[in-house]
Amino acid sequence: MKLVDTHCHLDDERYDIDREELIKKLEEKMEFVVNIGFDLPSSIKSVEYSNSYDFIYAVIGFHPTSISEYSEEAENSLRELSKNKKVVAIGEIGLDYYWMEDEKEVQKVGFRKQMKLAEELNLPVVIHSREAMADTIEILKEFPKVKGIFHCYPGSFESLSEIPEGYYFGIGGVLTFKNSKKTVEFVKKVDISRIVIETDSPYLTPTPFRGKRNEPSYVQYVLEKISEIKNIPFEEVLRITTENAKKIYGID
Ligand code: NI
Repeated sequence: MKLVDTHCHLDDERYDIDREELIKKLEEKMEFVVNIGFDLPSSIKSVEYSNSYDFIYAVIGFHPTSISEYSEEAENSLRELSKNKKVVAIGEIGLDYYWMEDEKEVQKVGFRKQMKLAEELNLPVVIHSREAMADTIEILKEFPKVKGIFHCYPGSFESLSEIPEGYYFGIGGVLTFKNSKKTVEFVKKVDISRIVIETDSPYLTPTPFRGKRNEPSYVQYVLEKISEIKNIPFEEVLRITTENAKKIYGID
C-alpha cells in the first residue's frame, strides 16, 4: 500500500536543487501528497505542481505570517485558482501569536475572511494555530458549515472537545521527538477516525532524520509511531488515515 502526506511544501527553496528527482521518487511511493500554499506565489506553485503531476493536490491560502499580503485582489486570485479541480482546500490559514508578524486583530480579520471564502467555495480548510488556541477555536465555531484539518495539532486532548466535530487532526514528525509527551498522550486518546498524517516538509523532520530536510515519504515513521502507541497494525493505521485524508479533501 502506498503512503499519503496531507501537508507539505515542495515549493520550498530547499528542494530547488533536486525537486524533479524527488517528485519522481515520491511518485512511486506515494498514493498522493498535498502541497500547501502560504501566500500567493506558493499557492500558484501548488496549483502548477498539481497540474503537472497526477498524485499532487493543491491547497491555497495565506498563512497568518503572510496575512499582510491578503487583499481583495489576493482573495479574487484565490477564487480564480480554486476553479482548478485539483484544489482541495483553503490553507494554511489561522493565527500565529508566536511569530506575531502582524497584530492579533489583523490576523483575525484575515483568518475570518478566508474561513468565509472556504464556506463560499464549499471547500475544507487547513488550520495553522500557534500559541493561539482559544482564539482559533472561537473563530472555527463561527463557521459551523466549514470542516477541515487542524495541522500539526498543538493542543491537548482536553481542548479536543472544544473543536468542532468536522475537524481532523494532522499528526507529523513531532510525534517521534523525545520531548513529544503531549502529542503522544493526544494520539493515545484520540480516535483514529480523526487522525490524518502529514510531514510539513521540509520542516519537522521525524526521528531518525531529525535536523535534516524532511520529505513526504517520511510519513512512514509517523505511521510506525502511531501503530506502536495505539497498538494497531501499521497497515491498518495506513488504511484508516488514508481514508480519513480522502474524505476530508474529497479525493477518490
Ligand atoms: Ni505547513
